[in-house]
Order: sequence, then structure tokens, then C-alpha cells
Amino acid sequence: MIAENFYHQPVLKEEVCDLLITDKSGCYLDCTLGGGGHFRALAEKLSVNAVLIGIDRDMDAINWNKKAIISDGPSIIIEQSRFSLFDEVLEKHNITGLNGALLDLGVSSFQIDTASRGFTYMKDSVLDMRMNPSEGISAWELLEQSSEEQLSSILSEYGEVHNSVRMARAIKSCKGIKTSADLRSCLAEEYGPNLQIKVIAKVFQALRIAVNDELGELKRFLSKITGYLLSGGRLAVIAYHSLEDRMVKEFIREQEQGCVCPIDLPYCTCGKQVLLKRITRKAVRASTAEVKSNPRSRSARLRVAERTEVINEKK
Ligand SMILES: C[S@@+](CC[C@H](N)C(=O)[O-])C[C@H]1O[C@@H](n2cnc3c(N)ncnc32)[C@H](O)[C@@H]1O
Repeated sequence: MIAENFYHQPVLKEEVCDLLITDKSGCYLDCTLGGGGHFRALAEKLSVNAVLIGIDRDMDAINWNKKAIISDGPSIIIEQSRFSLFDEVLEKHNITGLNGALLDLGVSSFQIDTASRGFTYMKDSVLDMRMNPSEGISAWELLEQSSEEQLSSILSEYGEVHNSVRMARAIKSCKGIKTSADLRSCLAEEYGPNLQIKVIAKVFQALRIAVNDELGELKRFLSKITGYLLSGGRLAVIAYHSLEDRMVKEFIREQEQGCVCPIDLPYCTCGKQVLLKRITRKAVRASTAEVKSNPRSRSARLRVAERTEVINEKK
């Protein structure tokens, strides 16, 4: 028998269930199914009248969950999709409103630990890094096709790498990088063999974010999700780095704000309405005990917001 956490150990599982479920008979969407840890926990708490939809862009995750999940509770729907296209999945199943949507961003432990997927710098493998290997270009193709300037922006924006210009120049001067070992030895040529692991990790993070257009995915998802949340429905997002967490925080803040007309205007012309209210004042962090048993949870930040009734602030 395979251990429940073999694929991925879910982070902040109890907190997600407590904060996301407001109606046990409602309709919920898990946009990042992964190993299905959150999905199974939600399924256990929902009633037979509920609907639980799980999506992931990675076919391995879809196949794993289709085999692993047997529900005698809510109706289950599992589909391969990017979460920026969640609306197409809902439309296909005639679902028009959600009581909750969950995003647990980034990659699963299974994706990282499967060397052939090319996500890790710890093992040698072809640098692929695509969550869906049949979409887009791999990391080694990105390295080959991007200019020095483009690579430098990727490294500084997505990896917050210091002096990304020097690093991009060094990488572009090494021809034929195809594997993680090729990339590491190219970096060692420039910086010496003792280059800090945390710098290498930043380079890999930057490439992964670029290959999968992770920030673009999040932005497109956020631009649509409020329109699908039922009144009182909730959005929960777990982010693992500041770029994504900042985007979520700013999005919630912006949706919490109503009319932005100048104060001296007698009536509202902007039409902006309050669409969300924060449920978590500050991001929820994993407890010391959770971090000890699952070090990946150390950087997790959970933010939850609730769909409000549409309010017209000025009449
Ligand atoms: C951190 S794991 C989720 C783990 C999951 N919550 C669990 O409990 O096992 C993130 C998952 O999201 C998926 N993913 C990341 N970006 C995605 C996107 N834009 N669309 C769909 N799935 C995505 C990854 O393929 C990965 O399986």
C-alpha cells in the first residue's frame, strides 16, 4: 500500500478546510490537485450533496488522483487543465457558481522528486521543468532561445538573483546546456565550485516560473475568480514565495476597495464595487510542529477572502 503522503504532504490542511468550507453542501474547486491531499481532506468534510472539482495541468497528478480517490461523499470531477482556464472546466460541467476555490501554488514533492521532470538541481536530468510536458518549451530550450537580456530579467524578476547580468552572460557563454549538471558546471566555471546552494535554488526557481508562466497563470486566474464566487464564497491561496504572495495580497486589497472617485464628486462615476472581504488579516503560517514534520511548509503563506454582496458605496 502506498502511503497517503507519498506524492505530496499537504500544507496547512486543517486551516484550509476550516477557512474554505462555509457550506458543506456547496460546490468547491481545488485548482492545484497535486497529490490530492487537500482534495481528500475537503471531500471528507463535505456532504453527499456537495460537488468537488479538482484540476491540475500535470497529467501525472490527474492519473494519480483518478486512481487514489474514491468518494462516498461529494460528487467528484477531475480534469486536466491550467487553472487560468478554470472557467472552461466549470462551463463543461454546467457549474456557474462556487462556494470555494483553493490554489496551493508551485510544484508538488512528486514533481521535484521525479528526476526525469528536470525540476531539481539535486539530481542530474534533462532540464525540462514543464508541469505539463506537452505544453510550451522546456527550460533548456528557454536557455537556448532567450537573449542575454531576457535571461537576465528572468533571473532577477523571478529568482531575485543579484547581478543577474553577470549570471545571464555566463550562462549564455556556455553552449549546449541541456541538463541540470550542465547548468551547475556552467555556473561553477563562473563562480567557482562553492557557489551557494541557495543561489542555485534561485536560478532553478526563476527558470521554473518562466517555463510555466506561473505569474501569468495566477494573474489570469485572479482576474476571473471573483465573478464565479457565490455570495459568501471563499478564495484560499497558499503561496510559497513573495512574488506570488504579493500578487494575492494586492489583489485582495484592490477587491476590498469600493468607489475610487475623487472625494468631492457628488456621485460615483467609477462604478467600482467592493467584491471581497479579507478573512485572514495576516497570512496564516504553518506551526512549528508542522514545519518540523514538513519543512516545505516553512515558506507557506495562506490568505483567504470572501465574496461580499455587491455594494454600491455612493448612490
Ligand atoms: C503544491 S502542489 C499541490 C499539492 C496539493 N494541494 C496536495 O495537497 O497534494 C501544486 C500543484 O499545482 C499544479 N499547478 C501549478 N500550476 C498550475 C496551473 N497553472 N494550472 C494547473 N495546475 C497547476 C502542479 O502541477 C502541482 O501538481
